[in-house]
Amino acid sequence: MVRTTSILSIFFIVLAISPSIFTTREVIPNTTSLPPFPRELFGKIRVDPNSTNQASTDFGNITRAIPAAVLYPTSVNDIALLIQASYSSSNPFKIAARGRAHSTHGQALVLDGVVIQMSSLNYGGASRIDVSTNPHPYYFADVGGEQLWIDVLRATLLHGLTPVSWTDYLDLTVGGTLSNAGISGQAFRHGPQISNVYELDVVTRNLLHYDARYGYRTGEILTCSQQVNSELYYGVLGGLGQFGIITRARIALGQAPERVRWLRLIYGDLMKFTKDQEYLISLKGEDMSRGSFDYVEGTLVNDANLTTFNFWASFFSKSELGRISVLTAQNATFYCLEVVKYYKTSEASNIDQDVASLLKQLSFLPGYVFPKDVTYTDFLYRVHQEEEKLRAQGLWEIPHPRLNLFLPKSSIVEFDHGVFKSILKGNYETMGGLILIYPMIKHKWDERTSAAIPEEEIFYTVGLLRFATNQADLKYLEDQNREILNFCNGAGIKYKQYLSYIEDNAEWKKQLGEKWDIFYQRKMSFDPKEILSPGQNIFTP
Ligand SMILES: Cc1cc2nc3c(=O)[nH]c(=O)nc-3n(C[C@H](O)[C@H](O)[C@H](O)COP(=O)(O)OP(=O)(O)OC[C@H]3O[C@@H](n4cnc5c(N)ncnc54)[C@H](O)[C@@H]3O)c2cc1C
Ligand SMILES: *[C@@H]1O[C@H](CO)[C@@H](O)[C@H](O)[C@H]1NC(C)=O
Ligand SMILES: *[C@@H]1O[C@H](CO)[C@@H](O)[C@H](O)[C@H]1NC(C)=O
Ligand SMILES: *[C@@H]1O[C@H](CO)[C@@H](O)[C@H](O)[C@H]1NC(C)=O
Ligand SMILES: *[C@@H]1O[C@H](CO)[C@@H](O)[C@H](O)[C@H]1NC(C)=O
Ligand SMILES: *[C@@H]1O[C@H](CO)[C@@H](O)[C@H](O)[C@H]1NC(C)=O
Repeated sequence: MVRTTSILSIFFIVLAISPSIFTTREVIPNTTSLPPFPRELFGKIRVDPNSTNQASTDFGNITRAIPAAVLYPTSVNDIALLIQASYSSSNPFKIAARGRAHSTHGQALVLDGVVIQMSSLNYGGASRIDVSTNPHPYYFADVGGEQLWIDVLRATLLHGLTPVSWTDYLDLTVGGTLSNAGISGQAFRHGPQISNVYELDVVTRNLLHYDARYGYRTGEILTCSQQVNSELYYGVLGGLGQFGIITRARIALGQAPERVRWLRLIYGDLMKFTKDQEYLISLKGEDMSRGSFDYVEGTLVNDANLTTFNFWASFFSKSELGRISVLTAQNATFYCLEVVKYYKTSEASNIDQDVASLLKQLSFLPGYVFPKDVTYTDFLYRVHQEEEKLRAQGLWEIPHPRLNLFLPKSSIVEFDHGVFKSILKGNYETMGGLILIYPMIKHKWDERTSAAIPEEEIFYTVGLLRFATNQADLKYLEDQNREILNFCNGAGIKYKQYLSYIEDNAEWKKQLGEKWDIFYQRKMSFDPKEILSPGQNIFTP
């Protein structure tokens, strides 16, 4: 009862933000859509068009949704207060955490609601990355949900340690990738990033704290793990921001390598390409006297010219590109296997031999093997260099109608035939970007998390990471994405979307399949008023 009263008394209208800060007419807030905020948030909630416009777009550059306000939290408690304010209002407002907004279809946006600018947690205070260098029980880093993976890498490398599971791109937030899955060429071995988290702090409804007046208390900070508050832990991992805001994650670490041998191998035949990928991800240490690769991905070699939007091509020298374009001039579709072996400089004398013995098992086109040797950081941060080049050419802040699918292994031949060799045939070289294709292993994923994956033990991710430089291309690519989904539906391919753009609840029920019931129960437990991350459209009728 005491608690109830104090909560009531701190509510205070701050929307009439100090006129000394904002004096122009445009910044007068639209108060009709928001209830009062607690006094503690004064000065941290902004409604000026600069703030709301910045929070209205994302990497996709396709949708726009202007929030009523943006919260710049300086503590986790600020986030708790915001969620409490919505829950205790008779007209709850929607809230979305914004990491780097690398979503492509507005998943981190919230029309007329409040966006939480997560990066603001990092300003001014102590570092929010804390590395535990004691091997017992295990190495880990406690990192703020707003932290970028590149910063986690740099902080852990200082201790000779590193996270083990990555995304291709590192300027993403920990809370953002853990809300999806976080995959790259290491996932076959270590599982996705969500398989490498020991513990989380989450701002959510506290099921243990029942208040006679308000029901369950909402907006409290709960620690969760496989042992403690496990429903929340599993729900939030891959949970698309639906159950709470991740403010801390305890990330698994391993010993860091120093260098990587990085190879690309060209194939003309899908069967040989996928057979080799599947062979490499299935190797166990003992099967191979000298171990296996540490990273396995692949791409479609889709650009006959190899000079247009040079993202994939920048790996190669000019003469190497020349050799590859001789191939692509003959046939339309080639595949590129990309593998990496990590090593320490003290092991450098063995690396050539180790790699050679692995390559002996593979069926790439003879002679079409392209090696490179770079530092571990340069490898992991490789996409950053491409980003800089694309930005310099004005090719970054443009539409990204990305489509990411998880496909059961048994459907990959049909997909290749129906999509790569039919729908995409003859016109993909006009668009920029990249098409990824690589396999992962289901048992490295924990079924109890919210992430949706296909039924089979081996499944592929196919990422159509294309961009458009004008509206006509955008429409063309979006239509083509729809055509690809229609093809899969028509062929009965049991795919799942990843980083999905799914428009309504009926489609989401299909996407989540057997997981829908538990997903819904968790929503009713942790966010029954459905205020969190509405841009995912999961509860949109
Ligand atoms: C260039 C590029 C390359 C990429 N490469 C890969 C890749 O290789 N592998 C891969 O798996 N993904 C990849 N992604 C996708 C990436 O995982 C997603 O965009 C993801 O959303 C992380 O981005 P973000 O941190 O900007 O999160 P945002 O886009 O800001 O947020 C994503 C969702 O999570 C919610 N959210 C954000 N922070 C939190 C939090 N702390 N707690 C709870 N919910 C939160 C948001 O409300 C939103 O619904 C890539 C994205 C880009 C732009
Ligand atoms: C204020 O918000 C309401 C509800 O979202 C909207 O209908 C109205 O047009 C807005 N007014 C202004 C001046 O933006
Ligand atoms: C908005 O941004 C512009 C350009 O970045 C800047 O000149 C202006 O002062 C900003 N206004 C406010 C109210 O922050
Ligand atoms: C796309 O990006 C451009 C360049 O930054 C910007 O002017 C435009 O408003 C963006 N559009 C959307 C829908 O986000
Ligand atoms: C190109 O295609 C033809 C006909 O399908 C095939 O015989 C040939 O081996 C292919 N070339 C390469 C380099 O894969
Ligand atoms: C390849 O690209 C270059 C430069 O963009 C262009 O001049 C050339 O005609 C293209 N060649 C083919 C075969 O498309």
